[in-house]
Amino acid sequence: PTVICVAGARPNYMKIKPVLDGLEERGARTVLVHTGQHYDESMNDVFFRDLGLRQPDHRLGAGSGSHAVQTARVMTAFEPLVETVAPHAVVVVGDVNSTLACALVGAKAGCVVAHVEAGLRSRDWSMPEEINRVVTDRVSDLLFAPSSDAVTNLTAEGYRDDQIHLVGNVMIDTLYANLDRALSSDALDRYGVTAGGFGLVTLHRPANVDSPDTLAALLDALRQVATRIPLILPVHPRTASRLESAGVPAGLRLVPPAGYLDFLALQASARLVLTDSGGVQEETTALGTPCLTLRDNTERPVTVDEGTNQVVGRDPARIVAAATTVLRDPPAKRRPALWDGKAGARIADVLLDRLRTQGAARPT
Ligand code: UD1
Ligand code: UDP
Repeated sequence: PTVICVAGARPNYMKIKPVLDGLEERGARTVLVHTGQHYDESMNDVFFRDLGLRQPDHRLGAGSGSHAVQTARVMTAFEPLVETVAPHAVVVVGDVNSTLACALVGAKAGCVVAHVEAGLRSRDWSMPEEINRVVTDRVSDLLFAPSSDAVTNLTAEGYRDDQIHLVGNVMIDTLYANLDRALSSDALDRYGVTAGGFGLVTLHRPANVDSPDTLAALLDALRQVATRIPLILPVHPRTASRLESAGVPAGLRLVPPAGYLDFLALQASARLVLTDSGGVQEETTALGTPCLTLRDNTERPVTVDEGTNQVVGRDPARIVAAATTVLRDPPAKRRPALWDGKAGARIADVLLDRLRTQGAARPT
């Protein structure tokens, strides 16, 4: 069978790689499509090199824009490609605009659509990703859940049991596949930090960085945490210009977006991570690094219930208090079920079995 695998933004590459590998090892023909949602060297090319991801077979070149413009550009470029390739299935990962756009096109073209990372819910409809998650699941045939909370959400929303597959976390497949390489690199020297001697920060959620008042409050919190431990912040392009006008406190060092291996080494060696990223909440849990999530909610509750994550919101006093506690008394390392490096293989087995037994037809 022919399977189109879609990627386009930074967190997609780590998620698609184990799926591509699993499908190819089982003899499927894969077609890698890059939507072009992210395009800077540091948001894109570096991940192909670090992960050993092969170059895309097709590039849609969508680029940046408003939600409607970006989603529409991906859709109008993807539709004729689906017509030409005539795949049996389309695999989309995560919750970015490229995910939703390609799921919609695939479903209307009559392909089996598989969503990797299905069922995650923040229940926060102000997040564009929550809309992408819910709508992508709705038009997908196969729902690959990373954790049991996602299965519970999907069941409650009325999906059939035969659509839902608890397979574990593909992002953690990639983490285990690359951790030794990351740890044996000279990343810490290049960043001028020592293991356990620094905190790592990422910020890019619109709710955190697009409002000057919220960003100022978060920077005030980081300023206070930085009096206890130096902080390093690889800056996402969305955040770069906003930080310039907001002013950066002492003790918080800004660096360009990090490559995957460097960022993995930094996460593994940090005493503490403060973030609003989805993937970083998961990776810190797998690594056993304490994580404070600077949001009011998470679509990844398993990282709190069974991992090292705490959702601490945006109030500086609460963030500083949580950081102080965690620096003194770090949480124990635990690992959620099926976060074992084999999620991509499970996905490939289920998808190819589905195509073999029921053909490529979508259920009516
Ligand atoms: C997107 C995803 C978000 C994900 C994040 C991962 C959506 C709705 N959002 O957010 O879920 O967590 O990617 O990093 O899909 N830009 C560059 N260079 C690039 C890419 C972007 O300069 O290579 C700048 C552009 O000014 C662009 C802005 O960043 O307008 C935002 O990019 P966009 O892809 O729209 O959203 P992200 O904030 O990156
Ligand atoms: N990441 C990276 N360099 C950075 C920040 C993040 O390689 O400077 C990796 C991180 O390890 C994880 C992924 O990017 O694998 C998370 O992506 P991001 O935070 O952009 O998106 P989200 O997960 O919030 O959608």
